[in-house]
Amino acid sequence: MNSKFKELEKKRKESLAGGGAKRIESQHKKGKLTARERLHFLLDEGTFEEIGAFVTHRAIDFGLEKEKYLGDGVVTGFGKVNGRLVYVYSQDFTVFGGSLSETHAAKICRIMDLAMQNGAPVIGLNDSGGARIQEGVVSLGGYADIFYRNTLASGVIPQISAIMGPCAGGAVYSPAITDFVLMVENTSYMFVTGPNVVKTVTHEEVTSEDLGGASAHSTKSGVTHFSCANEIECIQTIKKLISYIPQNCEDMPLATSPQHAGTVNLDELIPSNPNQPYDMHDVIKGVIDKDTFLEVHQNFAPNILVGFARLNGKSIGIVANQPAHLAGVLDINASLKAARFVRFCDSFNIPLLVLEDVPGFLPGTDQEWNGIITNGAKLLYAFSEATVPRITVITRKAYGGAYDVMNSKHIGADMNYAWPTAEIAVMGAKGAAEIIFKKEIAEAKDSEAKLKEKEKEYLELFANPYKAAERGYIDEVVLPSETRSKLIIAFDMLKNKVAKLPRKKHGNIPL
Ligand code: HXC
Repeated sequence: MNSKFKELEKKRKESLAGGGAKRIESQHKKGKLTARERLHFLLDEGTFEEIGAFVTHRAIDFGLEKEKYLGDGVVTGFGKVNGRLVYVYSQDFTVFGGSLSETHAAKICRIMDLAMQNGAPVIGLNDSGGARIQEGVVSLGGYADIFYRNTLASGVIPQISAIMGPCAGGAVYSPAITDFVLMVENTSYMFVTGPNVVKTVTHEEVTSEDLGGASAHSTKSGVTHFSCANEIECIQTIKKLISYIPQNCEDMPLATSPQHAGTVNLDELIPSNPNQPYDMHDVIKGVIDKDTFLEVHQNFAPNILVGFARLNGKSIGIVANQPAHLAGVLDINASLKAARFVRFCDSFNIPLLVLEDVPGFLPGTDQEWNGIITNGAKLLYAFSEATVPRITVITRKAYGGAYDVMNSKHIGADMNYAWPTAEIAVMGAKGAAEIIFKKEIAEAKDSEAKLKEKEKEYLELFANPYKAAERGYIDEVVLPSETRSKLIIAFDMLKNKVAKLPRKKHGNIPL
């Protein structure tokens, strides 16, 4: 073989070896795949094209000039997921702990620039000890170069971050800006400051897992959208997620062949007692194509459900109050969760279906002092600004401000349906009767009986969908079993919707 060809062969082998066999073994012992193995499982076979395999760092301090690895701790390139182009980077923990050097950052930036120019998603597989300590400020600069690109790319191309190892310090802010964060249980963690710093500053004793593991971030903070049992599940979730979303903001999601809905008798679903819960998952099941619900933020703020699904083969985003948890009330976390999801769907042309059964906003000092006003306003703002086709189905309660917020006609929803079981009113009957008939009830011989009588009066007048339908706030009252076909027809009618927002630099969402 030509010696020059041999040199290339040698370099290719060297680059593929990452930090060497011993470190790869140590990676496997921790229950983690290597950067290249992860890409192997993520991308369609034979589609990965690597960029920058021979890049090395330029540091000369702390003896680093004598320790160089081809690729410098991150494998970057492009490939296909189920036939669709994606740009990828996968940090290699076997090279300086996947730490981010100037050149490592430049490789990621190059991928992001290409993704923006060519309109395709970026998937980042993160496994890194953070800033390359020996490089100092150039590493910090590298991070900022990535954060800047994450921000510019937001709403232009989908960005997905999988955390498959450490992600600490300022490094967490790149995933935080991206659209979806996935974490692997027990082998990944994210925090701004680790357990040692926490102990010094606040005297709290906490493990890495408790502080910033997948469980903490999927239930308490909401930082992660998907908590995955292992790396393979994480990679499969990324692929599934990609199937619902388009390549970029000018593109439409791909349709698949239509399926039947799951077998749920929707007409029997709503309990006769309005205070009895039911599971909104069953409504979703009875409406969408069978087994197509990909729930996002499953364990965070379970009083609202958000996720992707297919309706007659087409991708939709669902936002649904969950009466089976806290009666489906809107609180700070539920508002944040739903607002973020609505904005993602609107950025990427995914029509929105809202299933509504909401008793109102959660009262209390905790909610008020932590800003339910500002946070609830985020959801109101997100819906109001969304220009994708938007349909609401009120299954039961639509009370107070929450009626307005949950994609009402007044804030731009296109079609609003209600089931005959809907109750659209300022508040529940008991509370309403107590206020408007206060004097009458107090003066009655039997106050209890008077309250019941007035409550019934209010219920008869308002606890139905017909007052709203008389005004045109509800377009049609439909049987639960008619819902799926109504939605398919309505979304089809709306498929060419054009809605323009007033010209502005950008709005000022109440952050
Ligand atoms: C250079 C690093 C490194 C880093 C790890 N390594 N982190 N090299 N810079 N940040 C190297 C180690 O020297 C070691 O090299 C190899 O990676 C594996 O590290 P281990 O410690 O042996 O692995 P493990 O026991 O699994 O521990 C992983 C770890 C730990 C928890 C990530 O390495 C660690 O605490 N690293 C430092 C983390 C940190 O403080 N980073 C800076 C955060 S601040 P050898 O040659 O032995 O294989 C930050 C600011 C970003 O990132 C700001 C952005 C705005």
